[in-house]
Amino acid sequence: MARLVIHGGNALHGEVRISGAKNSALAIIVAAALATEGESVLENIPHDSDVGTICLILRSLGVEAWFDSQGRLHVNGKTLNRYQAPYDLVRKMRASFYCAGLLIGRLGRAEVPLPGGCAIGSRPVDFHIRGFSQMGADITIEHGFMKAQCNDLRGANYYINRSSVGTTINMMIAAILAKGTTVLENVAKEPEIVDLAIFLNGMGAKVRGAGTDVIRIDGVESLHGIEYSIIPDRIEAGTFMFAAAITGGDIIVKDIVLEHLRSPIIKIEEAGAIIEKGTTEVRVRVNGQLQPIDLETSPYPGFPTDLQQPLVAAMCLADGASVIRENIFDRFRYVDELRRMGADIRVERETAIIRGVPQLTGAPVEVTDLRAGAALVIAGLAASGRTEIYGLDIIDRGYENLEEKFRNLGADIAREETREVTDIFSQIQRVNV
Ligand code: UD1
Repeated sequence: MARLVIHGGNALHGEVRISGAKNSALAIIVAAALATEGESVLENIPHDSDVGTICLILRSLGVEAWFDSQGRLHVNGKTLNRYQAPYDLVRKMRASFYCAGLLIGRLGRAEVPLPGGCAIGSRPVDFHIRGFSQMGADITIEHGFMKAQCNDLRGANYYINRSSVGTTINMMIAAILAKGTTVLENVAKEPEIVDLAIFLNGMGAKVRGAGTDVIRIDGVESLHGIEYSIIPDRIEAGTFMFAAAITGGDIIVKDIVLEHLRSPIIKIEEAGAIIEKGTTEVRVRVNGQLQPIDLETSPYPGFPTDLQQPLVAAMCLADGASVIRENIFDRFRYVDELRRMGADIRVERETAIIRGVPQLTGAPVEVTDLRAGAALVIAGLAASGRTEIYGLDIIDRGYENLEEKFRNLGADIAREETREVTDIFSQIQRVNV
């Protein structure tokens, strides 16, 4: 077990390089296994534990997936030969369900556990399952597994009930090798979807319309591996921007795609930050107290739900009340932890009302979900005194070298090992009895 220990109060200064996008990497790593000719070599893959988990799942299915000494990930799907994904790995994250699209597309058969993921409310996969059955797969749900079988996967027209990133990705992966044309309507338009489409087309797929409401896929016979570098992580970038804001800092966030960060940049400017845009970097400066803002989360290009929590953390110190509405997930459990640090937050259904306080105070807190982890770190950086953050395995799912990056910006933050339960028992054992 480990915890993060932060002594807050240092304004962040310096430069930070943003890693590759976790959510893009997860989709592209699975999609790479669609190819049967040659291997793909993937660059800018973040070394976080979700990436590790997806690689282990692929390996359990027979796929070759390994990192070379330069940190590039090699994926070769030729040896894919098993259709049962292991529960102990799949349960760790929702994106592991992308294996279902891969297995149905490649083998016409899949047994994949219904996935787990962050504790952010109910996260069903009914849209994914409906899409697979529209393409001709016979689906049953048995003992917590989705079992799918089809002899002849064929293109279909599928209107996704609600813009869903995961469904769009899973359907794209399944449809690439299907017979005929698949038309997906009301799809997600996130940059990660466009990244996946560019990667697939590079491998020989025929995907059009990614980034719009309709994606059209003409099935192809086979794909070949390619070299590809994935996009930067816009959520990590936004997290650093809000961290600079709450600490009254001055940082340059490097290696980003500015276009992907339009709504967070607009909102952080509204909160009083001074933004200077470069070609692939942005400087964020804050002098004085942040101003409160109102917003709601929505699918891209709207304000991302994954930055709602870091934003709320920043608004805890704003000069007045902010109203933040969460439209995608049930994502306010973590505010109890911010309250322990002195935040004044009231939650009514999907809306949080945050009244800025003059000071947050350090406290021991527990990470409830991935993005809540980032929010607690940000709050700790600004709080007076010592904050201890427990539940680091959740933060490690989606951030590469988080504390090192913050330390390089001047934060007083360190990872400490804590005693295991077995150690505790050795302490309370009576000796000489
Ligand atoms: C992805 C991202 C996550 C981000 C989210 C929204 C990955 C690995 N994760 O999650 O970081 O917060 O998009 O941008 O890329 N829904 C259903 N049935 C389904 C599928 C989804 O009801 O079958 C609902 C969800 O409960 C949610 C909404 O649709 O309310 C959007 O979810 P979705 O876009 O699918 O999120 P994920 O792909 O899980």
